[in-house]
Amino acid sequence: MGIKTIEWSKGAIKLIDQTKLPGTLKYIYIKNIVLLRQAIRMMKTRGAPALGAAAGLGVYLGIKDSKAKNFRQFKEELDKVIKYLAAARPTARNLFWGLERARKVVLKNKGKPIRDLKKIILTEAKEIIEEDMSACRRIGHYGAKLIKKNDTILTICNAGILATIDYGTALGVIYRCKEEGKSNKVYACETRPMLQGARLTTWELSRNGIDVTLICDNMAATLMKQGKIDRVIAGADRIASNGDTANKIGTYNLAVLCNFHKIPFYIAAPVSTFDLKIKSGEEITIEERGSPEMTSLFFKKPIALNNVKVFHPAFDVTPHDLISAIITEKGVIRHNYKKNIRRIIGK
Ligand code: MRU
Repeated sequence: MGIKTIEWSKGAIKLIDQTKLPGTLKYIYIKNIVLLRQAIRMMKTRGAPALGAAAGLGVYLGIKDSKAKNFRQFKEELDKVIKYLAAARPTARNLFWGLERARKVVLKNKGKPIRDLKKIILTEAKEIIEEDMSACRRIGHYGAKLIKKNDTILTICNAGILATIDYGTALGVIYRCKEEGKSNKVYACETRPMLQGARLTTWELSRNGIDVTLICDNMAATLMKQGKIDRVIAGADRIASNGDTANKIGTYNLAVLCNFHKIPFYIAAPVSTFDLKIKSGEEITIEERGSPEMTSLFFKKPIALNNVKVFHPAFDVTPHDLISAIITEKGVIRHNYKKNIRRIIGK
């Protein structure tokens, strides 16, 4: 721990440039929304909860120098900023949730002077950050109850410190287990093609004293067959009201494998990742990314013909019936998801 993925500092959004990891822990200061949107698209910052924070801070960045003379003008500028940032990436619910929070807090304070509205937006963004820090720790608290001493856990992508503010969801559970002295081992799927597992998860787990082993994505079945995996925990980008969950491509594969091998498969996510307006995963927009991410090894070494046809969905949807439980800051949700999601996280 001891690092913050994203925060407001010296009149800018300060964030860890995750494309430089694991080689260098480099912070960048972003001072306009064009650079912020680029940073999100290029995954300098990424992970659903971190995108929620980027959204909140991003709205402030986009509006803080507004010269609007009245509320109508200010609201027009605000809507433009929100629309611009919303186009950064389509799948993670938290991005839209963060933008929506900024819009709502402005509408709620409509009668106030514009300079106050600006401050209110920044305060709201800082609250998103504080809330994430505490939500992840609650997720860790509830999740750790599902994990036994010496269990070996498999995870995919990065749902840790680097995907949140400073603790993580899926990895937050593992950090909490360590705090409780449970000494668990972790296998991290490398997570082709952007290698969040290899570059980010192994980096942060090792740094925090967790016994982690890197595997290629296609090794998971073999490990399960050999009895080496006790549980799988993944994060989430968007959870529908029936529990269907979008997360990094390859998560669905793991859920199917868990079902076959009778291994519990958990999703860990804050309430801000739920999208109760949608009935099922079929309504989730899945981001498709460009071919260079697949035809080269992290934009450097070519590993396929550069003109080969490429299909590159960045996320998949795991149907709710393959999910053993969803761990949230409000508690652990189990089947029947449709009923229990409403009951535990409310409307
Ligand atoms: O494309 P990414 O790296 O933003 O994808 C991130 C994931 O899929 C994470 O598992 C998810 O956002 C949850 S992060 C706590």
